[in-house]
Amino acid sequence: MRVLLTGGSGFIGSHIALLLIERGYDVLILDSFVNSSTNVIKAIKTYLDNKNINHSFKIINGDIRDKKTLDRIFDDSAKEFNPIQSVIHLAGLKSVSQSFIDPLHYWNVNVCGTQNLLSTMNEHECFSIVFSSSATIYGLTDSAPITEDHKISPINPYGKTKVAIENMLYDLYKSNMKSWKVCSLRYFNPVGAHSSGLLGEDPIGIPNNLFPYITQVAIGRRNHLNIFGDDWATTDGSGVRDYIHIMDLSEGHLDAIDYLNSKESCFEFINLGSGIGYSVFQIVSQFELSTGLDIPFLVKDRRDGDVAKCYADISKAKKLLGWKPKRSLEQICLDGWNWQKKNPNGYN
Ligand code: WQD
Repeated sequence: MRVLLTGGSGFIGSHIALLLIERGYDVLILDSFVNSSTNVIKAIKTYLDNKNINHSFKIINGDIRDKKTLDRIFDDSAKEFNPIQSVIHLAGLKSVSQSFIDPLHYWNVNVCGTQNLLSTMNEHECFSIVFSSSATIYGLTDSAPITEDHKISPINPYGKTKVAIENMLYDLYKSNMKSWKVCSLRYFNPVGAHSSGLLGEDPIGIPNNLFPYITQVAIGRRNHLNIFGDDWATTDGSGVRDYIHIMDLSEGHLDAIDYLNSKESCFEFINLGSGIGYSVFQIVSQFELSTGLDIPFLVKDRRDGDVAKCYADISKAKKLLGWKPKRSLEQICLDGWNWQKKNPNGYN
């Protein structure tokens, strides 16, 4: 089965790509590499060669806003009598802070790019899509765990683009309910790395997110961690989030593809998280315990846009996809550190 994976060289995309190829899917990776290194592709190939796994996945360097590129991808697959049967759509910009600085760029890439992709899929009668959504769409919330029917109220342009895309997908599904099969996966906090240490999270510049910042402190690239607030209404005053191992998240995407394959048509949105909330202090302590390293930190003021608690109710994913997370917080810390230790400067 041929799958088009947009954004397949990013942190999440590369882990999904590896899993798809290992499971025997015929994978086309489309990526503009604006936010990722082409060395990721080398890392995927190294892993597959080390495991003696035959692979023939294709990489297309392109932008989802370029209709010609998208048309060519679908046309070429049809000409090979190997049409694209499903799309896993991750391509997009994802920095909350950056989306405040350049909102129109976020609307253009994320929403116009996705509209382009969906038009092309429709024209080529490819009606099956797994979309990379985000828990950010829930916005400020004082209820946890969060279920999928929680109020949608994004508080940043990035989250608003994700809501716009979910609405676009719904309208498209309603326009042809016989054919379209849509699964929007709402990620909480994907962290960690592939157990081989060949793939991991390598943010460009200073990491916005907690976990890669911790691993960069651990490897000596950052002096200390800044903890944004210890006066939140949580057990220890630091922010509580739902950290899900990147491989658990990736497996959720393959279960979503299987789910779509089992349906004539559907439209679902599903939380993907660990279902457990951990505070910043708990993450730091677990990381230190798992690695034997010391993570120095300073407590700073709260960060704009943060909330006290955000973690998932994952019962729908268990019920619909038969999916549940398998890896512990300790495994997240061990795998994340293993990647950073083996790749002190990331992919470059
Ligand atoms: C986690 C906790 C911070 C950094 C973001 C995006 C979301 C999604 C996942 C895309 C919070 C604290 C963080 C640091 C800290 N991405 N923190 N020091 O904000 O839950 O979610 O990433 O979909 O859209 O919003 O993740 O890792 O930034 O923060 O104390 O240097 O760690 O305050 O409590 P967040 P995060």
